[in-house]
Amino acid sequence: MRVLLLGTAAGGGFPQWNCACALCKSGATPRTQDCVAVSADGVGWYLINASPDIRAQILANPALHAGPGPREIPIRGVLLTDAELDHSLGLLMLREAGGLPVWAPPAVLHALRDCFPVRDVIDGYGGWEWLPAGSSLGSLRVSVLPVSDKRPKYARSSTVEGPWVVAYRIEDPATGGVFVYAPCLKTWPDGFDEFVADAGLVLLDGTFYSPGEMSGATASGVSDDAQHVMGHIPIAGEHGSLRRIAAHREAGSTTHWAYTHLNNTNPVLDPGAPEHSAVRLAGAELPLDGTEYKL
Ligand code: MLT
Ligand code: MN
Ligand code: ZN
Repeated sequence: MRVLLLGTAAGGGFPQWNCACALCKSGATPRTQDCVAVSADGVGWYLINASPDIRAQILANPALHAGPGPREIPIRGVLLTDAELDHSLGLLMLREAGGLPVWAPPAVLHALRDCFPVRDVIDGYGGWEWLPAGSSLGSLRVSVLPVSDKRPKYARSSTVEGPWVVAYRIEDPATGGVFVYAPCLKTWPDGFDEFVADAGLVLLDGTFYSPGEMSGATASGVSDDAQHVMGHIPIAGEHGSLRRIAAHREAGSTTHWAYTHLNNTNPVLDPGAPEHSAVRLAGAELPLDGTEYKL
């Protein structure tokens, strides 16, 4: 299985267009918004999430280019972890595909019809199929782990029950390769340690480095618990994800752990920052856009 990281930043990307903080002005490598493509054979590809940057991401990755027929594309469908705008706006950009299957948790399918009517809009451009997050993507096997009840701001008045956010475990029966994708984690969820067992790659929520980051020097004045309300576990700290990774590594896990969905406030974006080194020393990766893993 090939896993291609199309984008690795949180909503707004890096640098963020409306931000003049030191990090956004630092010249650190830009990152587009979180999105992944997976393929069993390198011919047909499935997107996991559809970022607003999807057009540029497709053009930047030859594996996703159109061809060989004049209107043939290698993208076979889209799997969504949640209904956030940074993970779903790309569906509008994909309208020229003339229809693709889209798999998502039921609450997400509801939000994209009843709170933000993307489905109605793009159904007018072709035969889209809207399906509950399934058990397969072609020959790849998919399992789903509900991870949080955090709904998008635009769906805050929805009374539909979650889960609103899930993680996916994707297995290639031909190679035994396992990829776990969890770009939005409010906490380290129940059952997650088992869910990642034997994974070759776990791509995790790296939105924030520290628990108080959004109230720090680069911030917009939101309160300390805003990050938790936003549904993102920090990397560092007592309740952070890096400690969990360390525990897996101490137990002998050979999994590659990598962070995605990095917010523009996250100091790990700067390769010269001590926080970047701390993550790397703890055995986790901070891959750039365009990084590919083979599992
Ligand atoms: C999130 O990851 O919390 C959301 O994408 C925030 C947003 O609306 O940009
Ligand atoms: Mn997001
Ligand atoms: Zn900034």
